[in-house]
Amino acid sequence: MAHSLNLTWHEAAVTKEERRAQNGHASCVLWLTGLSGSGKSTIANIVSHRLFKDGIDEYVLDGDNIRHGLNRDLGFSEEDRNENIRRIGEVAKLFTDSGQIVCTAFISPYRKDRELVRSLFPEKGEFIEVFIDCPLEECEKRDPKQLYQKARREEIKGFTGIDAPYEEPEDPEIIIRTDQLSPEEAAEKILIYLKEQGII
Ligand code: ADX
Repeated sequence: MAHSLNLTWHEAAVTKEERRAQNGHASCVLWLTGLSGSGKSTIANIVSHRLFKDGIDEYVLDGDNIRHGLNRDLGFSEEDRNENIRRIGEVAKLFTDSGQIVCTAFISPYRKDRELVRSLFPEKGEFIEVFIDCPLEECEKRDPKQLYQKARREEIKGFTGIDAPYEEPEDPEIIIRTDQLSPEEAAEKILIYLKEQGII
């Protein structure tokens, strides 16, 4: 465990509130969670594009991409997933402090990891948990990366939904059934929520 004993926290010269005022919109994290193949990345990218077109500062953090860089030292054990989510939570907080709307797309299968991230955002409404809810059978049928096939053949061990757990959110801010809505409709639902909350 690293130490922060001899470190000083510097207050920022420009505050989050000042950045928000200049941007003309609030900042927050849209934390998409759900099974592999449920549609998280697709929806995150549609939301991102729609916000961008409207001149809103936004960014997407995506599991498959982040695991090529920042988190390339991490695998899929429970411990590594805990660390994956902890780091992304901290990065998402930095983006939120910088005045942006950050949309994350990670399976984040453990409830306690998501709650830990939520606790990094004490300000009401800053952490928006979006459950991308899709039955396992449907995700398996889609199997965009053919990883379910591999998991069934036991070529991949510890695959979420097959032989590793996914703990559904108990009280998410938004639930999206992607077996019932198109990706565009799903993105629309998130944008409506942001408007209703006065974030954009
Ligand atoms: S998380 O569980 O730590 O949140 P993350 O979202 O970063 O996972 O990465 C998930 C992606 O990694 C999946 O969409 C899939 O492409 C790939 N992957 C590789 N191995 C596994 C595995 N054992 N379980 C789940 N996803 C895996």
